[in-house]
Amino acid sequence: MASNLAPIPELYVSYESAQKLKVEAGNLVSHDLTPRQICDLELLMNGGFNPLKGFLTEKDYDSVVETMRTKDGALWPMPVTLDVSEKFAETVELGQDIALRDQEGVILATMTVTDKWEPNKSREAEKVFGADDSAHPAVNYLHNHAGKIYLGGPVTGIQQPVHYDFRARRDTPNELRAYFRKMGWRKIVAFQTRNPLHRAHQELTFRAAKEAQANLLIHPVVGMTKPGDVDHFTRVRCYEAVLDKYPSSTTHLSLLNLAMRMGGPREALWHAIIRKNHGLTHFIVGRDHAGPGKNSQGEDFYGPYDAQELVRQHQEEVGIEMVDFKHMVYVQEKAQYYPIDEVPEGSTVLNISGTELRRRLAEGIEIPDWFSFPEVVKELRRTKPPRAKQGFTVFFTGFSGSGKSTIANALMVKLMEMGGRPVTLLDGDIVRKNLSSELGFSKEHRDLNIRRIGYVASEITKNGGIAICAPIAPYAATRRAVREDIENFGAFIEVHVATSIEECERRDRKGLYKLAREGKIKEFTGISDPYDVPETPELRVETEGTDVDNCAHQVILKLEQMGLIAG
Ligand code: PPS
Repeated sequence: MASNLAPIPELYVSYESAQKLKVEAGNLVSHDLTPRQICDLELLMNGGFNPLKGFLTEKDYDSVVETMRTKDGALWPMPVTLDVSEKFAETVELGQDIALRDQEGVILATMTVTDKWEPNKSREAEKVFGADDSAHPAVNYLHNHAGKIYLGGPVTGIQQPVHYDFRARRDTPNELRAYFRKMGWRKIVAFQTRNPLHRAHQELTFRAAKEAQANLLIHPVVGMTKPGDVDHFTRVRCYEAVLDKYPSSTTHLSLLNLAMRMGGPREALWHAIIRKNHGLTHFIVGRDHAGPGKNSQGEDFYGPYDAQELVRQHQEEVGIEMVDFKHMVYVQEKAQYYPIDEVPEGSTVLNISGTELRRRLAEGIEIPDWFSFPEVVKELRRTKPPRAKQGFTVFFTGFSGSGKSTIANALMVKLMEMGGRPVTLLDGDIVRKNLSSELGFSKEHRDLNIRRIGYVASEITKNGGIAICAPIAPYAATRRAVREDIENFGAFIEVHVATSIEECERRDRKGLYKLAREGKIKEFTGISDPYDVPETPELRVETEGTDVDNCAHQVILKLEQMGLIAG
């Protein structure tokens, strides 16, 4: 049997042992896995991350970060680490087994903790992602989401994470290998994607299959992709909608529950190894594979063909052949797609970038047939109605007494007068009376309060409503986290109510500043507690010398400019 088709080792124990382990694990310390860790664990257990046998140990981690190899020399470009909080790490001794559970508390695996250490995250960012720049989604994750401590050690698999969606389209490496065996497929080229399939992708996949004389596996990532991507439910419906445009006897669609890091070249190589593990013989690498977009200086993190270069260097060792492609563009005169370096001279090249596509969807503008399939466009429009019909959040921030609540109230009334979407006001004071009634004003409590407001606002936004929030929200990092949550579903408009602390104190409507000065209220924002002034809010309103109506109107104008309210 060809080596790509033979079964690959998994980390699962037998059904009987798993039942026993489940009971015994009741006595173990439990770690609740994050969504990213669940993805990683699934691929560890099912052999997708072969040869890894668990989350990286400290030595393997160091070696992977520095040299893209485990300490035994196996090529492995991406750290697969189990990050936990310091508090949790303190409860774990080396040599101890811990239970790894999903977010509902279902046990998926146990892990023997052989290593526990505090990683140098800046070094990890520099070496793995090329820059310690939080504009990179994985670097942002590293610094702002991942726990401070890493645990490493071998994993014993008990059961696969449960997926309720698209079950029939999910395959483990061994299931795919078995499918290829059954179909008699020997050469199979994989197409990795985190985007809906448009015509350029179809052309690219057709060409790749022809070039490699191979069958085609459309292998989209449905775990975690780049924040802001089209959600995987919509994407899978889009893939299914165009599947009949491929010959069914040579094409297969399978979903991969991978958590992408958007790590460009290293990620491309990682993808190639993962595809090798899934039984593929060929792998398509196009322009800017797994690219994270621009850095904080507005430049690309990686060169457009860096990923191809790195995969080329290692393809032999991995045992998978790269099918590389230049950027595909549409040539009007030929009514056909070409790689950009093969475009006939003097012809008209048409292209719609990802940003332009999002703009057209957001504004309800036509998307031409040469660019995509009507079925795909219909599906995308169903999920993403034009901006003027989407939910959004207006998030006021500023000192106590700055005028946030008053402007927020005026804004609410104006939006209600316009109608069309339900409006909810989450005012600081009101939230503290119900949603956060037990909280005080320590940093921890304020953060919790803002995260709660953010959570409610994100739900409102997701469901097409308008959330207006008006807390002090003094910490920039927390505001940013809330923004990230909400931008998954709709626009986030940060409005800094920039009334100076002197003016707020002079007004002192509630008499709180006086009490704060007298030391009778502790940790009072602007007096005895910090306030991070927003650096780049969508809007800054000055209330001194401007009436409330005008301030609220400035917000309305901003919303109009952003396309969120239309005539
Ligand atoms: S935070 O920091 O965002 O969680 O604060 P928030 O939920 O907006 O609550 C602020 C309101 O609580 C009153 N208050 C205080 N504010 C700041 N610091 C201290 N120590 C404090 N103690 C009570 C204050 O009236 C705020 O109301 P607003 O509406 O902002 O004037």
